[in-house]
Amino acid sequence: MIIPSDEIVDKSYIKDYEKLYHDIQEHPEAFWENIAKELSWFKPWNKVLEWKYPYARWFVGGQCNIVNNALDRHQKTAVKDKLAYIWVGQPFDSAQGKEMPVRKFTYGELNTEVCKFANVLKSLGVRKGDRVTIYLPRIPEQYISMLACAKIGAIHSVVFSGFSADALKNRIMDAQSKIVITTDKYPYKDKVLDSKKTVDEAIKDISSVKDVILIKRLKSEAADSNGFQPASPKLQRGEPISTGLNYHWYHDLMSQADTICSTEIMEATDPLFLLYTSGSTGKPKGILHGHGGYMVGVYLTLKYVFNLDSQNQPVNQATSQPGNNSIDDIYFCTADGGWITGHSYIVYSPLINGATTFVYEATPDYPHPGIWWELIQKYKVTKFYTAPTAIRALMRLGDEIPNKYDLSSLKILGSVGEPINPEAWLWYYKTIGKEKCPIMDTWWQTETGMFMITPVPSANLKPGSAFKPFFGVEADLVDDKGNSVPVNTQGFLVIKKPWPSMLLDVYNNPKKYLETYFENESINNQQLTKNNQFLYFSGDSAKKDDDGYYWIIGRNDDVIKVSGHRLGSAELESAFVSHPSVAEAAVIGKPDEVKGEKIKAFVILKKGIQGSDELKTELVKQVRKMIGPIATPDEIDFVDKLPKTRSGKIMRRVLKAQELGQPLGDTSTLEN
Ligand code: PRX
Repeated sequence: MIIPSDEIVDKSYIKDYEKLYHDIQEHPEAFWENIAKELSWFKPWNKVLEWKYPYARWFVGGQCNIVNNALDRHQKTAVKDKLAYIWVGQPFDSAQGKEMPVRKFTYGELNTEVCKFANVLKSLGVRKGDRVTIYLPRIPEQYISMLACAKIGAIHSVVFSGFSADALKNRIMDAQSKIVITTDKYPYKDKVLDSKKTVDEAIKDISSVKDVILIKRLKSEAADSNGFQPASPKLQRGEPISTGLNYHWYHDLMSQADTICSTEIMEATDPLFLLYTSGSTGKPKGILHGHGGYMVGVYLTLKYVFNLDSQNQPVNQATSQPGNNSIDDIYFCTADGGWITGHSYIVYSPLINGATTFVYEATPDYPHPGIWWELIQKYKVTKFYTAPTAIRALMRLGDEIPNKYDLSSLKILGSVGEPINPEAWLWYYKTIGKEKCPIMDTWWQTETGMFMITPVPSANLKPGSAFKPFFGVEADLVDDKGNSVPVNTQGFLVIKKPWPSMLLDVYNNPKKYLETYFENESINNQQLTKNNQFLYFSGDSAKKDDDGYYWIIGRNDDVIKVSGHRLGSAELESAFVSHPSVAEAAVIGKPDEVKGEKIKAFVILKKGIQGSDELKTELVKQVRKMIGPIATPDEIDFVDKLPKTRSGKIMRRVLKAQELGQPLGDTSTLEN
């Protein structure tokens, strides 16, 4: 057990987790209502929570806009001159040489950029409820675009820049986006990637897209952009295009845009964004989040868990103190804006809290494997939030690299995305945190929007455990009938009460919403659902120990976590099958020391086709083409048969057990 120092406890908003948790659990709605009152609303709500199976709606009747809280209200306070973002770009050979570009935005400056871009979007005809796809690398315009959409009530759909044209196409098509925002080219380590080309390919058959906005990331080429003539896409691609498609330079549009833009009044339950994520079946789902509940949940969680030096009064004067961290926090989150961590904890929550967020454009190994530690030293980072896969990769390189840097500014460390093994936890704690920074191992999901199971800095920690549920969150571990399992027993991780930033729905697919989260086939909870009881199925398995600490084991469905990236077995299998030589494929996740899990595929080839190393290389290429480099398979076996149920479903569980030399479990439904 790791006990926090008195200093940490003193500076924590939360001093006594247990007492506060139990007090709040008596009346979670009153708790969230009080938190909501710390934020700005255009009109108060009539009802804190409306639960109509299977939908929970928070702050019903209330009107707000998350951007009103993230930016507008700070314009009237001292926060206006505080830095919202410090962005450091990766070094790249350019006219400027090898220097790393730095861009800083105060809250005032960020607001101006957001207002201008919101006006640009409006001038292109974007209206409340329209969808806008953002396909950008880790540059400030990624955040500006999201905020500009939210400001005018448009729904943003950010697609991670590592996804391929096919993956992007599916996401644009499902969302029926009007606009796509991307770069022309951008640096990625020593390479230059052409995201415009990817977008061209993705949208060639999509008629909903009317405009593409291109951001120039590489300054060295800016000279030729003067008076840029949007080249006819028809000429560029030599293929038919949807009518009326226009390309624009971001900087051209912005140079003419007005700096004042009013913020759209939204219902608390109106959609804010769509974020596609992989599930166990079929195509990725568009997870839909809204303005009101989401803003309340993300606001509070980061503040309490990272002890963020906040501009808002805390909820409970008896247990928390306002603004008692004497230093100004520099909060460094290494996530990409393309994932939920970037949405909730780089964009919305830090801004609502009036914090200063530090972002680095490149990967932790570029231009050298000490870059994160160098940046922490240089910018005096106080709070650092990253993923286990990165910690494990950096740990392997030894202590000498981090030991070269002064990391004494650090106060709190965080982890997210996959289970962190105790060895990596202890290395992070000792070598990076010098045994004085508590580690916040935050368990949550794209769907939950906010931290759900997480320590607070004053908690006693066990390396490898994500501690206990956040205030107002009721978690449990259940068996396949929905009954709670005894301590130290593996169970399905479920949530038993609605929480404010839970997903509103699966976009265009309410059936999927119901079947994934409330009537999941793994669990027979008809009794509960009949009574309209709330039981959210997370798709994870976990154990709880004698002290009530949660130990997350991992996904219990066919979702694979590769370096924290969420990939569906079914999605990977269709990518394999899209190759002309493949008849059938089954994909499983195998443990990997650094990546957490790696992709292993079992492939049946079409009649007459011989397996070879060349074909394996081709298949890897095919999967990268269909999904993107994050989905690169590690192992491919050519096989004659796959274990199936009598109804023809591939039993991946059996393949996995066989592969790992584990007992096969119940095979009574196995056909062959
Ligand atoms: O399996 C859990 C794992 O990540 C899944 C959610 O993935 P995604 O929606 O991409 O969101 C990742 C960022 C929140 C979960 O179902 N996961 C996330 N955080 C943890 C974790 N597993 C163990 N420990 C965590 N701290």
